[in-house]
Amino acid sequence: MALEKLNGVELPAAADMHVHLRDGDMTKLVIPTIRRGGVNTVFVMPNLVPPITTVHHALDYKERLQALEPNVTFLMSLYLHPNISPETVIEAKQKGVTGIKSYPHGVTTHSDHGVMSYEPFFPVFAEMERQDMVLNLHGELPPSVGEDVTVLNAEEAFLPTLLDLHKRFPKLRIILEHCTSAAALKAVQSCGPTVAATITAHHLFMIVDDWAGDPHCFCKPVAKLPSDRRALLKAVVSGDSKFFFGTDSAPHPATSKRGEKFAAGVFTQPHAVGLVIDALEMGIETGVLTADDVTEEKLANFLSHYGRSFYKVADERNERIILSKPAKPIEEILKTEDGKIEVVPFRRGRMSWDAIWK
Ligand code: DOR
Ligand code: ZN
Repeated sequence: MALEKLNGVELPAAADMHVHLRDGDMTKLVIPTIRRGGVNTVFVMPNLVPPITTVHHALDYKERLQALEPNVTFLMSLYLHPNISPETVIEAKQKGVTGIKSYPHGVTTHSDHGVMSYEPFFPVFAEMERQDMVLNLHGELPPSVGEDVTVLNAEEAFLPTLLDLHKRFPKLRIILEHCTSAAALKAVQSCGPTVAATITAHHLFMIVDDWAGDPHCFCKPVAKLPSDRRALLKAVVSGDSKFFFGTDSAPHPATSKRGEKFAAGVFTQPHAVGLVIDALEMGIETGVLTADDVTEEKLANFLSHYGRSFYKVADERNERIILSKPAKPIEEILKTEDGKIEVVPFRRGRMSWDAIWK
């Protein structure tokens, strides 16, 4: 095992800065998997049906999540939408909402209410900058008829928009969510300290060939080329505080993965931390990284410190996890109590590192 040295190593509990917790019975299934994955702080996505576009909705959702799991800190977000005005931003800040997430129209799950153009939102961004709120970007350009924009280059095609927003609002904290390409990492690095990026566990494993033909590996943005995967693995152990953990764990009922047009999203929550260690091992085994690249300090920074510090949230729970080498395979399927909803986890049947609470 390439990272045997990590067996028994203690780390601060992870902060997962991009999760989809859904609503109703699916939420009840997902919530207990947060801590199982070694995580005690999450930034929660607002793409419910209908999307969360009011502070009241965000706070009501938070209360329901908190009642189901008091031992996790839930950081909440709004869905960028014409309902949101500069006044909404002021109210959101006052009432403890952390960020606003932008989904370009039509690029992913529940993005039909998404943004067509950023310009009408400039007054909202200006207020967010004043209020020191976080703008979370799903960074893909929607496909446009006649143009060569596809799932393969939609992220790269979005990067000029990121750079333009950063230039217009230099003090606005912006996160380019779930980076999948070397070009995206480079663009984020070229920006000032107010721009950062999340990196998922699943994009550390996959390339195009993995999701082409496997609905359980299909997510947005899609995984790209081997060179992109190498760049992501290196970013995780780079020690650069612009890059931190956000799983983008996105559960879908197994039935929505079997339909003719299957849903985008990969479910990684129960093994959030373990999958990162598994991926780094794969990186070592394939010669992309060395075991010396993976240190306790870099893991603590990527998984816990850098995200909290960008979001300016204290590690109020001060909990620790212990890494334990793989003892059992990832479950084939998770089910709700009544058995009505089934979710297939990413890398089902494969061995994965455990995160045990100290
Ligand atoms: O793969 C994805 N699934 N990407 C997203 O941006 C949304 C997410 C979901 O909500 O299922
Ligand atoms: Zn997401």
